Amino acid sequence: MGMILAPSILAADFAHLGKAVGQAALAGAEYIHIDVMDGMFVPSISFGMPVIRSIRPYTDKVFDVHMMVEEPGRYAEAMRDAGADLLCVHQEACRHLDRTVRQIRELGMKVGVALNPSTPVSVLDCILEQVDMVLVMTVNPGFGGQKLIPYTLEKVRQLRCRLDSLGLDTDIEVDGGVTLDNARQVLEAGANILVAGSAVFGGDITENAQAFIRLFEEFSG
Ligand code: DX5
Ligand code: ZN
Repeated sequence: MGMILAPSILAADFAHLGKAVGQAALAGAEYIHIDVMDGMFVPSISFGMPVIRSIRPYTDKVFDVHMMVEEPGRYAEAMRDAGADLLCVHQEACRHLDRTVRQIRELGMKVGVALNPSTPVSVLDCILEQVDMVLVMTVNPGFGGQKLIPYTLEKVRQLRCRLDSLGLDTDIEVDGGVTLDNARQVLEAGANILVAGSAVFGGDITENAQAFIRLFEEFSG
């Protein structure tokens, strides 16, 4: 299955966000990962609809919006109108996950469900067929620049096995602490969408993104 780089703009220079997004896209990123934080589900606050709307003209790439927000269904329509293509909600933040998943799909967006490190993949058993992507958090959400928690890769393996046994080719995205040094391990575990914040925006954006794309090409051999 296709491997996708999803640079997380949380690590970008917010004073030049449009330019940073354009550069990452030009270097081969298929998704732009956008971290929305509400100060409740996670301790920090990032940004919301106006920022997403203002960077939308800088690229046609998929806006992959990661909602670290309590009851994210409240903002689904506003996110779609701001430019989200794929809306990813946390299982832990939705009291009625099935309803929220349906709502996102009815709004015409792709649907992702995210799991915190300590949440087992089995919680998604009943809803796996309804989602386009599962996001396995490899750090506790809330901040960029953390170290990947190794046991979370076992969850990626379990999930890929489960999807295979159901005959589903659902995307598995991994988010948190992904670097050029551990990317191969993450792909081997069964993920095919890699979020990278500091590893892309924490230096030369073009060089970093291109290095990930080269690694994908080597991996698929
Ligand atoms: C963490 C966010 C991540 C973060 C990743 O809560 O969901 O997307 O920006 O940043 P890095 O790649 O620096 O760990
Ligand atoms: Zn994220």
